[in-house]
Amino acid sequence: MRDRFLPFSPPCLDDDEIAEVVESLRSGWITTGPKCRAFEQAFANKLHSPAALALSSCTAALHTALAVLGVGPGDEVITSCFTFCSTVSVIEHVGATPILVDVEPDTMNLDPAAVAAAVTERTRVVLPVHYGGHPCDMAPLREIAARHDLEIVEDAAHALPARCGDQWIGQGDNPVAFSFYATKNLTTAEGGMLTGSPAFVEKARVASLHGMSKDAWKRYDKGGSWFYEVVMPGFKYNLPDVLAAIGLGQLRKLDRMQERRREAAARYHDDFADLPLQRPLERSGVESAWHLYPVRLLDAAPIGRNELIERLGAANIGTSVHFIPIHFHPYYREKYGWREGMFPVAEDAFERVVSLPLHGGLNEADQADVIEAVRTELA
Ligand SMILES: Cc1ncc(COP(=O)(O)O)c(C=O)c1O
Repeated sequence: MRDRFLPFSPPCLDDDEIAEVVESLRSGWITTGPKCRAFEQAFANKLHSPAALALSSCTAALHTALAVLGVGPGDEVITSCFTFCSTVSVIEHVGATPILVDVEPDTMNLDPAAVAAAVTERTRVVLPVHYGGHPCDMAPLREIAARHDLEIVEDAAHALPARCGDQWIGQGDNPVAFSFYATKNLTTAEGGMLTGSPAFVEKARVASLHGMSKDAWKRYDKGGSWFYEVVMPGFKYNLPDVLAAIGLGQLRKLDRMQERRREAAARYHDDFADLPLQRPLERSGVESAWHLYPVRLLDAAPIGRNELIERLGAANIGTSVHFIPIHFHPYYREKYGWREGMFPVAEDAFERVVSLPLHGGLNEADQADVIEAVRTELA
């Protein structure tokens, strides 16, 4: 057994990020400014995004996107029941109504047929979540959106970098929200990015910083003017330069970290082939970001999911569960009367799923410990 705890998803940081942060701290400008602009530019270049706006979180990016699109009371937003709570909370924050639908059994992504069936005359937005980094099947979702004149806002918290056909997630004109939370494929400790058309991103930039016509860097930098106007009651969602500096270092090594993730996912896949587990897949024609490696225990497994988590914990191996379905949370049950039994695919997955350690710095020896511990319990 390991003598040290193996965390589920620690950050992969080194001297490059430290040097960027120190440079920012010494520069005399620590909040949103030049590092943030450089990070946005480098991110947009990487994904061929039309434009990018760095924000304080993916939640902030989703909220800003819905607010800028003018989504509000009376509107419905269709999204996945198998996601993190903030995907749905932002719909509540703009006063709209979340409409949950079930997921597809292989990818755990929004089921396009369920989306089509959920559209009403109140629907304004479809909000797909790229679960675990595997891109949603965007073609049928785009077709539904075009047919009913709906917006698509993507929750790409897990999907950096991911590709659907020859398009990166975040390459299109529609709003796409990424997360740089501490466990994500690229981290700034806390942070996010919103991509979309240049016109949309400029509106989002204003909305994300008090609705002010000029941000502080433009006002305080040499040649800047003190004057600004408030054009809407905006949010305070900007990303400070100190954190954007971490992102600049992370972005430079993203390809390397992704290579590690892909290799580790492939090793899990091969070494678990004979176990009573459903392994995550990568459909043909897509590139997953492999943010998570969620396995689902089959009926033939000798122990249940909760017991497996406990035993792996006792063997010093960290795990997590993605996700508790939204309709299991008391707030949503009480507000909308959602009940168990409404979304059978997600509910079945929730009973069986556990995410194993996977990160950009996972080495073969540590992963071998995970594989051995899982095999000990399930082989
Ligand atoms: C699917 C999904 N959406 C949104 C978020 C929110 O991201 P953030 O913490 O950057 O707001 C998360 C966070 O883990 C997530 O998993």
